[in-house]
Amino acid sequence: MKIRKAVIPAAGLGTRFLPATKSIPKEMIPIIDKPMIQYIVEECVGAGIEDIILITARGKDSIADHFDHSFEVEETLRRKKNEELLEMTERVSKMANIICVRQKNPMGLGHAVLTARQVVGDEPFAVLLGDDLIVSEVPCIKQCIDVFDERETSVIGVMKVPKKDVSKYGIVGGKKINEKLMKVSEMIEKPSPENAPSQLACPGRYVLTPEIFELIAETKPGRGGEIQLTDALARLAVQDGLYAYLFDGRRYDTGDKLGYIEATVAFALKRPDLAEGVRKILAEYMN
Ligand code: G1P
Repeated sequence: MKIRKAVIPAAGLGTRFLPATKSIPKEMIPIIDKPMIQYIVEECVGAGIEDIILITARGKDSIADHFDHSFEVEETLRRKKNEELLEMTERVSKMANIICVRQKNPMGLGHAVLTARQVVGDEPFAVLLGDDLIVSEVPCIKQCIDVFDERETSVIGVMKVPKKDVSKYGIVGGKKINEKLMKVSEMIEKPSPENAPSQLACPGRYVLTPEIFELIAETKPGRGGEIQLTDALARLAVQDGLYAYLFDGRRYDTGDKLGYIEATVAFALKRPDLAEGVRKILAEYMN
């Protein structure tokens, strides 16, 4: 069954980026000139998904505005015959159907995903977390969807992390099928290095069957007193099956300040209009 819908949780307060996030949603903070959320939506569009369900909260309306037409901007660009910028601005308004659902109480990632239940309905869907930008030839979520299509079972994208970092992520354990694929039998949210079943971490790419909703609804608050998606996934693995796929690509943790700076530099170095200038600036600072 085709994956038509993606859920992007975007209801968090963005405390790690205060004071910037006092009045700007953290998802709207740009990497160079594009808000972070746009990279995530583009990953969905690159995987053939056009219905984007944003889980938002109070004060986050500018995210939906970003994907809507901006009459003043477009009209001004049209009058000035700035075709290039006009085309780029219009493309953003047309790229996807944005559906906003409010998470009225911040009760964790599992709860945020459950908020989308009515809109997703009874079909498999993708979940992408906005703090993780993944650069790859084939969009990361598309790689996961391809495995889902082949196996007809839920799939999460994973990457190998150093042992000392396992306590930052949901970590999977299970039986290796081949170099890229694991049949998951357990999943633990932010384990200590001693308790981690592996070093395979999920940086926020999931393709899930709708059975997950009932499992989340039954999930009691876990780590940090929050309803954890990971706890529901651990049960999904046992009940319906779950695969972990070692995706190809480079991931940037833009929820972290250093990760954000790294992404900005890396993305700038890939831009033909900026690469040379950025290289010069970096060289200056290195001396
Ligand atoms: C969330 C998830 C965790 C996942 C991580 C990826 O944690 O709960 O399983 O590995 O995102 O970024 P958070 O970083 O929101 O605490």
